[in-house]
Amino acid sequence: MDTIRESVRAKYAETAITLRDGGSCCDTSCCGGSDAISGPIGEEEYSRADVADLGLSLGASLGCGNPTALAQLHPGEIVLDLGSGAGLDVLLSARRVGPGGHAYGVDMTDEMLALANENMSRAGVANATFLKGTIEDIPLPGSAVDVVISNCVINLAADKSAVLKEAFRVLKPGGRLAVSDMVELEPLPARVKTAMDAWAGCVAGTIPVDAYRAAVSGAGFDGVEIEITNSFGPGEAGLPDGSGKIASAFIRASKPL
Ligand SMILES: C[S@@+](CC[C@H](N)C(=O)[O-])C[C@H]1O[C@@H](n2cnc3c(N)ncnc32)[C@H](O)[C@@H]1O
Repeated sequence: MDTIRESVRAKYAETAITLRDGGSCCDTSCCGGSDAISGPIGEEEYSRADVADLGLSLGASLGCGNPTALAQLHPGEIVLDLGSGAGLDVLLSARRVGPGGHAYGVDMTDEMLALANENMSRAGVANATFLKGTIEDIPLPGSAVDVVISNCVINLAADKSAVLKEAFRVLKPGGRLAVSDMVELEPLPARVKTAMDAWAGCVAGTIPVDAYRAAVSGAGFDGVEIEITNSFGPGEAGLPDGSGKIASAFIRASKPL
């Protein structure tokens, strides 16, 4: 498990440096990379105006969807983004919840946290905080947030159940979970499942939809909904020719009152 986390951390440290040097995530293979999952996350998912208003470009997204749209955030709410990367979803959330609300991001990679803090300064956002930590052990107290979002990160964790239990713990009763993630639709070859670069590229760590639903329910959530958004077969999204299929998906659920 530590090997997986360290490979993921090293990969995203490198990606953060590429982004900071003016490259886009698509210069390296990552969850939003053109040769990886779905092409750069673009206008279909994010409003260009919202992103430009933050002084950022869509290249700052390494995600596979837009959980901030999925979550329908309201003024005054407290939001937490698991694996916040360069910070785009946190900063968009901060704008949506307004000065009476707050957006937190948690990430384990120092280089990503540095980039996210630079992006926050550039955007002039005052109601956001980036925390260093792992999503398996979130550095916030229980019942602290209204909404947990995450964009293409839970698949990277070796123990998805631990992450979902932590998301449940930090949510207030009635709080919402709104996640974009990758799932496995057809089994991937063993050589892909065990390749660390495929794990860090959001391919090898994917689990089937039923297993994902069971992990969300098992953490205590109600009303679990999983919607497939884009699917990728052999030869696409970093999958080798031959077999296997993965997809991006929206996952929604809520913590019972
Ligand atoms: C694919 S990027 C997604 C970043 C961001 N959510 C986005 O949409 O642009 C994955 C991010 O999750 C972080 N990450 C991966 N596994 C993590 C873990 N177990 N705990 C904390 N952060 C993690 C990485 O450091 C990286 O910044």
